[in-house]
Amino acid sequence: AGKRAFIAGVADDNGYGWAIAKSLAAAGAEILVGTWVPALNIFESSLIRGKFDESCILPDGSLMEITKVYPLDAVYDCPKDVPEDEVVESVKKDFGGIDILVHSLANGPEEVAGSVKKDFGSIDILVHSLANGPEVSKPLLETSRNGYLAALSASSYSFVSLLKHFAPIMNPGGASISLTYIASERIIPGYGGGMSSAKAALESDTQVLAFEVGRKHKIRVNTISAGPLRSRAAKAIGFIDMMIDYSLANAPLQKELSAEEVGNAAAFLASPLSSAITGAVVYVDNGLNAMGVGV
Ligand code: NAI
Repeated sequence: AGKRAFIAGVADDNGYGWAIAKSLAAAGAEILVGTWVPALNIFESSLIRGKFDESCILPDGSLMEITKVYPLDAVYDCPKDVPEDEVVESVKKDFGGIDILVHSLANGPEEVAGSVKKDFGSIDILVHSLANGPEVSKPLLETSRNGYLAALSASSYSFVSLLKHFAPIMNPGGASISLTYIASERIIPGYGGGMSSAKAALESDTQVLAFEVGRKHKIRVNTISAGPLRSRAAKAIGFIDMMIDYSLANAPLQKELSAEEVGNAAAFLASPLSSAITGAVVYVDNGLNAMGVGV
């Protein structure tokens, strides 16, 4: 209770980011979110129109409140990186108690961390729940250099950049969490475009960053290797139903993974209950990672 979380990568109520926000809210945290600029208007209007009201209901019957939504583009670090035609005027809306900065001059992690600092002073929990690989549907062998680098930029370096800029405003004892996928370490045909490489980088960086921010800021860094979920991003890859069926058939626990189960694991990793866990890849996948063969 009394903790403040910034969750990067929430643009609807279907993904892991939303579920993590709910689990953290249920545990008493204040919720700030970072939403990708191209998805911001739809997310904002859906929030305002009450489209997510039902999805906001917490286990105790109360409603999750999102204190503030920040526009975020995690492929830009600072204002000078933002292309001219993506720079938009700052407009502030206040609607139904939700304070939304519709657009800002720049939306990179440096700018957003600066805004959060100005608005709230500090945070305790940083969640990275975002990924993007423009060539994800292409095999690695067919992936262009630009596609590969774009996957790494949006899905791996984005975490380095967020942590770099948020760590100085995180209270000691704070925690950061990202989401990864087993395609980093095992062959998952169809998870292409350099996304498997991006997740491998994210997992390796989890260790190095755990050391660096552990020593410097007393902050923990962990990543959740999540099983398949029918999110917007996953549907775009095109093989999500197959992955869910495969898990149902082969995992030790034969049930569909709910986003809430990942949310609850994230709440644990963000809480003092996990105060000695850092630099870890934590599997939340019904145990599928432990299987050596399909059955
Ligand atoms: P999602 O669609 O809910 O979340 C992805 C978010 O990333 C979206 O909100 C999108 O707007 C945002 N985003 C993309 N590029 C961005 C950028 N440049 N700057 C800021 N935001 C950007 O989908 P999902 O699946 O919940 O993804 C969340 C995380 O979970 C990702 O890291 C994903 O790789 C990971 N994951 C998902 C699995 C699944 O089966 N859905 C399995 C294992 C990991």
